[in-house]
Amino acid sequence: MSVEVTWPKYAWLNGKIVEWDNAKVHVFVHGLHYGTGVFEGIRGYYDNGYIKIFRLRDHILRLFRSAKIIHMEIPYTIDELVEATINLVKANRFGKDIYIRPIAFRGLGSFGLRAKNPVDVAIIAVEFGKYLKKSGIRCTISSWRKPPADSIPIYAKVTGMYLLYHLASLEAAMNGYDEAIMLDVEGYIAEGSGENIFIVKDRKLITPPVYDGILEGITRDTVIKLASEMLGLRVEERRIRREELYTADEAFFTGTAAEITPIIEVDGRTIGRGQIGEVTSQIIELYNMTVLGKIEKYRHWVTELTSSPP
Ligand SMILES: Cc1ncc(COP(=O)(O)O)c(C=O)c1O
Repeated sequence: MSVEVTWPKYAWLNGKIVEWDNAKVHVFVHGLHYGTGVFEGIRGYYDNGYIKIFRLRDHILRLFRSAKIIHMEIPYTIDELVEATINLVKANRFGKDIYIRPIAFRGLGSFGLRAKNPVDVAIIAVEFGKYLKKSGIRCTISSWRKPPADSIPIYAKVTGMYLLYHLASLEAAMNGYDEAIMLDVEGYIAEGSGENIFIVKDRKLITPPVYDGILEGITRDTVIKLASEMLGLRVEERRIRREELYTADEAFFTGTAAEITPIIEVDGRTIGRGQIGEVTSQIIELYNMTVLGKIEKYRHWVTELTSSPP
């Protein structure tokens, strides 16, 4: 999916809130040439004069884990980036749902693959609606495979890695599908181009394990907790063969941008009844309440800021 966005008034760059047009770096930054960056995608929901940011600290923690994996020192603390995000969102006075993109990348310095250039950090927040169709999407198994765990750090959310997801997503769109599903090198279901995947079989949730080379999604973790703690469903983390996906009762994607997106068709095979399944709709309902802080048990996941659009 490509998403149209309206530019906001401010961005945050290297410690300061700056006018949107001044949020610039040089064309010679290392991250641009070699994909040496780590980033996050976070959602904030506008609700009656408040922006509610979902699992902000968990996303910033993952940003730091990703950085550590690629030998990158982010020149701020976790608390500083949490606070910077809050200040940027407040400054922009959003009146709609938003998407927040913190990014840290190697900047200007020397040239070459082993250069450990100083790290630039930016935070961008834009108004952002739905990403994938909530009524259910048609998917295709991508010809692009997830690489094995010893070829690139799949567990880290690294900018260079997203060339693969870009190609998979583009290929799906060019072939008339809404989204791609990637297999791992052994042919098991891995994930979407920007989503983790779940199937439902006899009211049990099944999702690929993290150590099998997928991103440890924060929405995935949210769904596992909601399903087991609130709905009393069994959740199994194990490999999934593509035939199991084709014959599942229900299937859905999870992701910050995608939220919970039902999958209703894969390569011409209808999944379940070809509409949002019963378990999926229960999870969607719970998820929508959780992100707005309406479930006491998970309120600590929500950072609530007052926001009055100008
Ligand atoms: C490749 C990939 N898998 C899964 C996800 C879902 O992760 P999360 O739920 O933390 O947004 C994302 C999005 O960040 C992603 O890019």
